Amino acid sequence: MEQAGESLLSKIARGDGHGENSPYFEGWKAYEHDPFHPVKNPNGVIQMGLAENQLSCDLVQQWITSNPEASICTAEGVHEFKDIANFQDYHGLPLFRQGVAKLMGRTRGNRVRFDPDRIVMSGGATGAHEVTAFCLADPGEAFLVPTPYYPGFDRDLRWRTGVQLLPVICESTNNFKLTKKALESALEKAKQDNITVKGLLITNPSNPLGTIMDRETLKMVVKFINHHHIHLVSDEIYAATVFTHPGFTSIAEIIEEEDTKMECDRNLIHIVYSLSKDMGFPGFRVGIIYSYNDNVVNCARKMSSFGLVSTQTQHLIAAMLSDDEFVEHFLAESARRLAKRYGIFCRGLAKVGIKCLQSNAGLFLWMDLRPLLKKQTFEEEMALWRVIIHKVKINVSPGSSFHCCEPGWFRNKDVAVASKKPCSPRNLMLSFSSMRIDDFLMSPHSPIPQSPLVKATT
Ligand SMILES: Cc1ncc(COP(=O)(O)O)c(C=O)c1O
Repeated sequence: MEQAGESLLSKIARGDGHGENSPYFEGWKAYEHDPFHPVKNPNGVIQMGLAENQLSCDLVQQWITSNPEASICTAEGVHEFKDIANFQDYHGLPLFRQGVAKLMGRTRGNRVRFDPDRIVMSGGATGAHEVTAFCLADPGEAFLVPTPYYPGFDRDLRWRTGVQLLPVICESTNNFKLTKKALESALEKAKQDNITVKGLLITNPSNPLGTIMDRETLKMVVKFINHHHIHLVSDEIYAATVFTHPGFTSIAEIIEEEDTKMECDRNLIHIVYSLSKDMGFPGFRVGIIYSYNDNVVNCARKMSSFGLVSTQTQHLIAAMLSDDEFVEHFLAESARRLAKRYGIFCRGLAKVGIKCLQSNAGLFLWMDLRPLLKKQTFEEEMALWRVIIHKVKINVSPGSSFHCCEPGWFRNKDVAVASKKPCSPRNLMLSFSSMRIDDFLMSPHSPIPQSPLVKATT
């Protein structure tokens, strides 16, 4: 039903391009209406749908306390207030760009150097993706995106630009690894549908899988995009969340390697980065477009006027990232803590019979709940999701919201970080094993009686 005055708005404003009705955002709403609190609302929804990284916030707080001059709102830093508050050049503060370029190099093992003059800032990776899409494609043109992929891409790349996203189907049979065959068949389908493909968007490390792309896959990708002369956008915003071997390989390293160097037109390569995940600063909205194409750098810089990072934030980040000792310690400690939590969480889920895709990065687990589906359909996946959110009261995100081609996969997030309270997988088990488990079992989607979920007692 039309809301009063709605028809007076533009088509974009009236449309549902934001995607807020998808279960991904719906789950957030369920949490917002009834948020869990250990004392005030113990039966509320536990938020496990948000990829936040708060594990190492204490280290940042310590650094801020020891470096009061880095902030322009302290007695020690206020003498810089006027200059910083007045600065409005969309190139950004030179020290900020240098700091980010250095961090990008460091999170890639210093095997590759990033040029501060190619750093363009934007409002988070969200803004960076939209600007990149505006620069590379016209309305109606498309990007290929391997599935499952981050649901926000549907909003970020498509909504205001009119660009389309076409899925590249990846399957559980090979752990959702991207193959040349899948890429070729997505491209072929686009041709049949008369859609011009302008690029391929990969996410490495992957959200929601938490896996990284190996060198061979990355080389195959570079060869593929060069062969078809389309762009490659590599979202690397989880680069520093890799917590165990094998390490992360950036697309920047691949295009430096001798055999791919020959085949690669660098004008086609663009990286999206942000401090939201690696540093845990999603509220600072620090997003980066790093393009090897001068025209894209120039155009993106002009477009960045619509989503600049405030100079106050730039100033603070510049100081923090120029402290080598801090950054090194932070990255090492953050990876160590992520590894620990991953282990605890995985083992907790294993105890109740839930298997996860083997991964070594990211802030989440890709759970295989296929054994809980009565039929392997997306309708059943949604029915199970409703039980989990409304009865078990945990917001996990169903695979269909990530365009996963197989029903029964769910993305789960470390509950301790998400719910902001000390909590172990035990709490998760309790959610399944307390009185609510009865509702769960009574539901038409209850696991078979022998399921470890039923036996969960910890
Ligand atoms: C793969 C991916 N890209 C981009 C974003 C958006 O990040 P930002 O908060 O920097 O806008 C997210 C956020 O979850 C993400 O997972």
